[in-house]
Amino acid sequence: MEQLLSFTGLIFIIPVALFVTFKGKHLHRNEYTYYWTAGAIALVATVLSLLSLAGAFGFDLSRIHLVYQLFFQGHLTFSLFVLVMFAGAFRHKSKPKITLMRVRREMAILGFIFLIPHAAFLLTTALGAWNPTGTIALLIMIPLFITSFPRIRKKMNSKKWRSLHKWAYAAYAFIYAHLLTINLIAQDDELRHVRFFLYSLIFLVYVLMKYNYYILPERKEA
Ligand code: HEM
Repeated sequence: MEQLLSFTGLIFIIPVALFVTFKGKHLHRNEYTYYWTAGAIALVATVLSLLSLAGAFGFDLSRIHLVYQLFFQGHLTFSLFVLVMFAGAFRHKSKPKITLMRVRREMAILGFIFLIPHAAFLLTTALGAWNPTGTIALLIMIPLFITSFPRIRKKMNSKKWRSLHKWAYAAYAFIYAHLLTINLIAQDDELRHVRFFLYSLIFLVYVLMKYNYYILPERKEA
């Protein structure tokens, strides 16, 4: 069971993708309800993270298995960000692209909200282990998160907005570095190589799709 839970982020890509396929319109129309709900969950999880770090209660958060993986170990954020990434990689006008693009902003905002308890829970571990990859990804994402809200986006020049949001690629690279370093250095269970392989496969497929659909056609036209 423990071993399966270490794959939560990878497995959860499927239910999250199904949710945005069948409930994407609902998410898009009620985005702020989702943000407030996610914000409330993240706030409770962040307070629990800080209390647990301060040793305020003797309860081990990892005993709440799936919830622990999803909200405290960064897995839900990972599943959401994978779909945000792939929204930009599918072929123009393809069905998956239309489905994912409709809720890309919402998935990115929710991913960031759910990142906060993970960061609060593990900041001291990350910095104590001299592994700032996750922290750098978080710092890059702060301006992207703020400017993703439609009201703020509307106030920005669209060229400036686009060039700012190119930083998402740097954030993806740091997320990948984060997952690799954690599985190579920080973890010692026997399945870490499998996770290392699967995370690498996802990022490799993403790079190849971007190269195939965007970079190659542009080169052919040039
Ligand atoms: C978008 C950014 C981030 C994502 C998607 C993310 C995702 C994840 C995932 C999925 C894991 C588990 C890896 C595995 O077991 O295979 C993990 C572990 C970890 N993350 Fe993050 N993370 C992010 C940012 C951060 C930040 C900001 C920090 C620190 C402030 C951080 C600190 C850690 C640490 C220390 C671990 C190891 C936990 C352990 O082994 O107990 N992460 N992260």
